[in-house]
Amino acid sequence: MNNVKKATIATAIMLAGGLGQAAQAEVKVGLMLPATGTYAALGKAIENGFKLYVEEQGGKLGGQQIQYFAVDDESDPAKAPENTNRLVQRDKVDVLVGTVHSGVAMGMAKIARDSGVIYIIPNAGADMLTGPLCAKNIFRSSFTNWQPAYGMGIVAAEKQKHKTAVTINWKYAAGTEAADGFREGFEAKGGKVIKELTLPFPNVEFQSLLTEISSLKPDAVFAFFAGGGAVKFVKDYDASGLRKTIPLYGPGFLTDGTLAAQGDAAKGMLTTLHYADELNNPKDKAFRKHYQEKFSMEPDVYAVQGYDAAQLLAAGLNHAKGDIKNKDTVIEGMEQAKVDSPRGPFTMSKAHNPVQNIYLREVVGNHNKNLGIAVANLEDPAKGCKLSK
Ligand code: PHB
Repeated sequence: MNNVKKATIATAIMLAGGLGQAAQAEVKVGLMLPATGTYAALGKAIENGFKLYVEEQGGKLGGQQIQYFAVDDESDPAKAPENTNRLVQRDKVDVLVGTVHSGVAMGMAKIARDSGVIYIIPNAGADMLTGPLCAKNIFRSSFTNWQPAYGMGIVAAEKQKHKTAVTINWKYAAGTEAADGFREGFEAKGGKVIKELTLPFPNVEFQSLLTEISSLKPDAVFAFFAGGGAVKFVKDYDASGLRKTIPLYGPGFLTDGTLAAQGDAAKGMLTTLHYADELNNPKDKAFRKHYQEKFSMEPDVYAVQGYDAAQLLAAGLNHAKGDIKNKDTVIEGMEQAKVDSPRGPFTMSKAHNPVQNIYLREVVGNHNKNLGIAVANLEDPAKGCKLSK
């Protein structure tokens, strides 16, 4: 190659490098969410919520442009290490955001702990993530599986005056911990869980379990299912005729983002959750309006959690004046955040999980209507977490 040609190539490389840098985003966010399977709609709502908040800030958080990288995690825990490393090692994201499924999130958390990448969980409720596995760089904008389920146990015993209950759920962290949380609240107020029924995730063959419920004749049923599985369960429960004699309860995932598909089968159901339709605070009103305008659909709890994951990151970045590499200061800002959420303002516990109200909701039409606060400012006990505030 002659010298002129070499110089031309060198200039081209320099130009490309220079331009690349100028156009390069300052903060790389890796979104690892389900785009397929029973939780696909939940993943989309989280992504929508996150991007909506960033867009409301002009595409920047802490003054820095946000660049997205995305991976479909398929709600498959076995693929979590490989999928997470695509974002952390290959794309070198500054912040990891994900996911819906607790088992996948446990795999993500391991890599976050080992690599030190800032990790925000916008749904997965695994109690351990902000319990024994809590870490300085791991935050959650959603809930622990214990929180809404415990609230439902209290309501079922105290308000609804039920004495016996059967729990039914997918057998993995979220379902098991929800059933445990319900039992804790229910039995603390004098109720008794007489049977715990399970089936593997994401199985939806409910028939034999519904027959078992019908012969057990409890006063109430508590169920953990979400997404496509929740739609099918609520419809099957109604079609079996059980709804007429045994009321069905659950954490609000049973009826959030699912009502259009469940129709009358969900009518009148009571659930507990850290969000409800028509909370009517100014932040929620603005959020719902923007979401509806942008996505032509109403938001649900997953959209709120995505939106708040972005708000949490903004709090960290603002505190560090936009310098994502100043990780300790970003983390400090996130720990101190008072998030102005559509669910109502919340703070972070010392284990980095929201301290929040749990609302009692009733299905009226296509809405989970707010009936009031079931448990105020509920903080997960975070057993085994060694972080201090
Ligand atoms: C979970 O796996 O932690 C999980 C999934 C879906 C929900 C709630 C919790 O709606």
